[in-house]
Amino acid sequence: MKEMRTQVGIVGAGPAGLMLGHLLHLAGIDSIIIENRAQEYVIERVRAGVLEQGTVDLLIKSGVGARLEREGLLHDGIYFNVFGNRRRIDMASLTGRRITVYGQNEVVKDLIAARNTTGRPLRFEVSEVSVHDLESEQPKIRFAENDDRYEIRCDFIAGCDGFHGICRDSIPSKHLHIYERNYPFGWLGILANATPSSPELVYSLHERGFALFSMRSSNVTRLYLQCEPNEDISLWSDDRIWSELLTRLQSDDGWKPNVGPIMQKGVTGMRSFVSEPMRFGRMFLAGDAAHIVPPTGAKGLNLAMADIWRLSRAFAGYYESGCQDLLDHYSENCLRRVWRAQQFSWWMTSLLHRPATGNPFDSRRQRAELEYVTSSRAAMTSMSENYVGLPIEECASGG
Ligand code: FAD
Ligand code: DHB
Repeated sequence: MKEMRTQVGIVGAGPAGLMLGHLLHLAGIDSIIIENRAQEYVIERVRAGVLEQGTVDLLIKSGVGARLEREGLLHDGIYFNVFGNRRRIDMASLTGRRITVYGQNEVVKDLIAARNTTGRPLRFEVSEVSVHDLESEQPKIRFAENDDRYEIRCDFIAGCDGFHGICRDSIPSKHLHIYERNYPFGWLGILANATPSSPELVYSLHERGFALFSMRSSNVTRLYLQCEPNEDISLWSDDRIWSELLTRLQSDDGWKPNVGPIMQKGVTGMRSFVSEPMRFGRMFLAGDAAHIVPPTGAKGLNLAMADIWRLSRAFAGYYESGCQDLLDHYSENCLRRVWRAQQFSWWMTSLLHRPATGNPFDSRRQRAELEYVTSSRAAMTSMSENYVGLPIEECASGG
């Protein structure tokens, strides 16, 4: 077994792990990041696209926002297409804040580039990752690479290994409270070589179900449609996908998405999940390792960034002055924002998906709520405030 030593051992090189490594580097704190997938896989994995202003501000302030500032698409509003009636919600004028559309994989690419310039370790394609002695002063990460086995001795471990990672599962179950809700539908998502036909996102509810129009650049459109949770993607030809998207998105004002070759497609399940507390001994969980939201509110990546900002400040406080206060309050401070986002994501999901019950009462109630959310200034402001997200600093100073 080869031995290594670091201050913070980070499991997972998704947005959470990479951003933590970056913020720790800025604070002069040493870290080792290990990732079980290949670098190309991590960079090409198509996922989130909507960044809250707080996330954008954090990326820019920490020096990894140059390309984001050049290429990110600033959006002042979004559309709700309610059974063909498309209405715009001007979030910027209601809240003074806006969102930026910039692919999660681009954020990851920028963070990997920043990490590489620091010369600090970032190792892809490791295997047999495990964590040990979490309640001791020196927790350890073990992994294998090629034919060698390694042990990293750490002051702390950050479990940034996503929902299917090993860190959360290494905590004895009697120390965890799990809150979970599954939804009776999933999303089929595509990336298409087509010029976006709307400058802003369109969230649509049609009799046949939910659909979402988004984008990545001036020639790439990103679209999703509500499907069965375990939908068999092989049953969806490109023609069938486009036909369904056009049916569900087309609005009475004549708007519809542009059609083009599909470059990538996949199905994702929808779940709400929180594991509390986000700490066990000297291991801290952040991002999807600790919580999952259904994607309708576009909150997952943003929550991961807010956790990481808090965790980096807590480690900085510890190494600067030995103060453990922020570490001790990390979990409860994060969970306030997590539960706000959970409630909002659940609400957006219930509001915009075809209900599974088939009860006509639910359909009419949903329609009434959509009418209200797209016409009352108070309701639009409340929706927008949640969608654009709380400033990360405000959350922090609010305790
Ligand atoms: P991950 O991105 O899952 O990263 C975890 C990393 O750990 C991965 O690279 C994984 O390979 C690695 N890993 C796992 N196990 C191990 C192990 N044993 N050892 C080492 N490494 C390991 N969020 C938004 O904010 N806005 C959106 O618009 C949005 N849209 C989405 C759309 C879709 C279709 C999906 C699926 C998600 C969306 N999300 C969105 C959610 C967002 O993608 C996640 O919340 C985000 O990826 C969380 O980042 P993370 O670093 O915590 O976890
Ligand atoms: C995107 C994803 C989301 O989950 C969402 O709510 C909005 C946009 C996207 O991938 O662009």
